[in-house]
Amino acid sequence: MTIMITGATGQLGKLIITELLQKIPAGQLIAGVRNPDKAAGLQQSGVEIRIADYNLEASLDSAFRNASRLLLISSPHQDDAVRLVQHKRVIDAARRAGVEHIFYTGFAFSHQGSPDNVHTLTEQAIADSGLRYTFLRNALYLDFINVLGLQEAIISGELLTSPGEWRFNSVTRRDLAQATAAVLLSDQHDHPSYEFTAPQAWTFHDLAEALSEWAGKSVVHREDPGIQHWIYNYLASINTSATTSDLERWMGRPVTPLKKSIADFVIAGQK
Ligand SMILES: NC(=O)c1ccc[n+]([C@@H]2O[C@H](COP(=O)([O-])OP(=O)(O)OC[C@H]3O[C@@H](n4cnc5c(N)ncnc54)[C@H](OP(=O)(O)O)[C@@H]3O)[C@@H](O)[C@H]2O)c1
Repeated sequence: MTIMITGATGQLGKLIITELLQKIPAGQLIAGVRNPDKAAGLQQSGVEIRIADYNLEASLDSAFRNASRLLLISSPHQDDAVRLVQHKRVIDAARRAGVEHIFYTGFAFSHQGSPDNVHTLTEQAIADSGLRYTFLRNALYLDFINVLGLQEAIISGELLTSPGEWRFNSVTRRDLAQATAAVLLSDQHDHPSYEFTAPQAWTFHDLAEALSEWAGKSVVHREDPGIQHWIYNYLASINTSATTSDLERWMGRPVTPLKKSIADFVIAGQK
């Protein structure tokens, strides 16, 4: 079995490869990259590097040769129409190359909105391709907490957020990567899709508690109508509170607790 990962120089791709390297030899992995200059670390780990640019059909045709399993990490392009074209290019190339099983990282909450969102349409294109497939629908990355002013909250003792009934199913990429690696290595796929969400959603009150524990001092949550940030418009447009057991089942352990998950973000905010 040879597993190819696209977007391998990205944050999620790198973590997935790190997880896979703990389980299988580097010789069974191929990293698909857009820019090989960013792949020095991957190369050092012994993983084969191939150019797989979503915009260049020919690169995909040669990149996918001899890959039995392909993980398509969704494109980060800002324009969903472009993303869809890129994804379809990858799917077509996978079919031509004889890939046996395609895995796609989508978004767990995209299905509640318009049916013509990029993830649903990509999944449809994969289902129509005739390839064997598994959809990995990821929860919200935790990164959005970066804009909440965690460091300021610790200093002032108050986490100020825009008023609202906010609940988030938001996890670390590390947890998602561990579950993704497990799915990629497994032959026992009992479902065509997995919702990589945590079994519990959390609130800003929970976040303030986690900050208190992390900092060893009281941080309380307070709603402040004066707080304005585009992120709240985005968060209000999706309901990310749904839960499943899929992520923990595939990780084989509980999701990382909020107190531990926030550490990287708090530390980054100190620099
Ligand atoms: N669940 C969520 O909350 C959430 C949030 C944001 C994004 N996402 C999605 O999750 C994906 C993975 O997240 P991430 O954190 O790993 O993103 P990331 O760090 O931005 O990585 C994106 C990867 O895609 C590669 N890429 C960009 N354009 C490409 C192209 N034309 N052809 C081939 N590869 C290309 C990048 O290559 P370079 O290294 O050369 O730039 C990079 O390796 C994102 O791309 C996005 O679709 C999910």
